[in-house]
Amino acid sequence: MSLLEVHNLTKYFGGLCANHDISFSLEKGELLGLIGPNGAGKTTLFNCICGYYPVTSGRVIFDGEDITHLRAYEVARRGLARTFQVYVASGDLNVEENVMVGAFMRNRSRMRARAEAREILKELKLEPLAQNLVSELPVAAQKRVAMATALASGPKLLLLDEVAAGLNPSEIDEIMAIIRHIHEDLGVTIILIEHVMELVMRVSQRVIVLESGRKIAEGEPQVVAKDPEVIKAYLGERYAKEQMETST
Ligand SMILES: Nc1ncnc2c1ncn2[C@@H]1O[C@H](COP(=O)(O)OP(=O)(O)O)[C@@H](O)[C@H]1O
Ligand SMILES: [Mg+2]
Repeated sequence: MSLLEVHNLTKYFGGLCANHDISFSLEKGELLGLIGPNGAGKTTLFNCICGYYPVTSGRVIFDGEDITHLRAYEVARRGLARTFQVYVASGDLNVEENVMVGAFMRNRSRMRARAEAREILKELKLEPLAQNLVSELPVAAQKRVAMATALASGPKLLLLDEVAAGLNPSEIDEIMAIIRHIHEDLGVTIILIEHVMELVMRVSQRVIVLESGRKIAEGEPQVVAKDPEVIKAYLGERYAKEQMETST
């Protein structure tokens, strides 16, 4: 049985089709990359899977259960955690408290939640920052806190939305190492959204490419990278960007 099955998922925002008839499945232990140009519908797909947005049509099966119409917190309780593309640290929590919010998902005791949060802070090398306010940390550390908080809920499946965006090359290497660690050593199944194709290609076993709300390719990274339609989708974006830059 697959851990996640997405069947013919379609999502409209008014007249705009953000996800069109998307189907795929994910096996336990996989690391799947989800790529595509800006506006392709990647984040929307996460939001639909997680119950943040109601789907227009289609079905989502998680761990054998139909979760299509569950609320976000009900989905989270079943072991499906996600980070947000734009990470807004909750109020004035420090790093440890923030991660405890995740830990409370499976633990009612404050003491145990704290112990679990500390364990994860150690795993992600965030211990020295435990008492710092999240809102005052640099972006790279905030992204790590977001991952730690999601991880603290003890997920079977972790959805990571552009955790490398806005980071410099050495910070990107660091976060990629953390993702590998979560996947390989902690055994968590992962879907990784990244705008930068090269990054996802490095760590994913399989990738899915979205463009204009449609799935245009799926397969091994090396194969997908050579797919003419994928190249066109990305080149199209680069071309558009160049046009904008030369016109300003
Ligand atoms: N809450 C929303 N309301 C209306 N339109 C939205 C909403 N969220 C996303 N969209 C639109 O859906 C399309 C896909 O967006 P998104 O899923 O954020 O793309 P990606 O994450 O691939 O950059 C875009 O055209 C975007 O403007
Ligand atoms: Mg997005």
